[in-house]
Amino acid sequence: MKKALYPGSFDPVTNGHLDVIQRASRLFDKIIVAVALNREKSPLFTIEERLDILKAVCRDIDNVEIVSFKGLLIDAVNEFDTCAVVRGLRAVSDFEYEFQMALMNRQLNLKCETVFLMPSPEYTFVSSRMVKEIAMCGGDVSTFVPEIVMSSFKAKRKGN
Ligand code: PNS
Repeated sequence: MKKALYPGSFDPVTNGHLDVIQRASRLFDKIIVAVALNREKSPLFTIEERLDILKAVCRDIDNVEIVSFKGLLIDAVNEFDTCAVVRGLRAVSDFEYEFQMALMNRQLNLKCETVFLMPSPEYTFVSSRMVKEIAMCGGDVSTFVPEIVMSSFKAKRKGN
């Protein structure tokens, strides 16, 4: 069975992430979407909220599992026994960071191969960071995120 790990902050998941998950789910037997518990970032959504949102938006994709991971990505690759790491590549501006991360991970674990998938062109400019900024200022992000994320933003704006 060919399993792949799709790691990220998913704070929150966007339609671009979802597009990558759908593409990856057609290429691999199983996709493990792994939400990072990253100490350096202060997320808007808690890890539980991010996991719940992802579970809801991926409920119709049979071969997707949602997990969280702490620490190094290569340790998660070992733990979940995946043959590849999937990352989305939106534009050339993503390339340098992604290239560095892929090679660094492979240096740490020779078995850690990274596969890049390009989302649909309409998502090439969508990022969780910008979506958060717009949504928390009351802007309309309905074309960038799944419905459940809209209601989660509404709850955050009310202070929940
Ligand atoms: O969605 P993001 O924020 O671009 O995802 C980045 C993520 C979580 C994949 C990356 O920060 C990561 O792998 N973190 C785990 C710690 C780690 O292994 N760092 C070394 C990477 S070379």
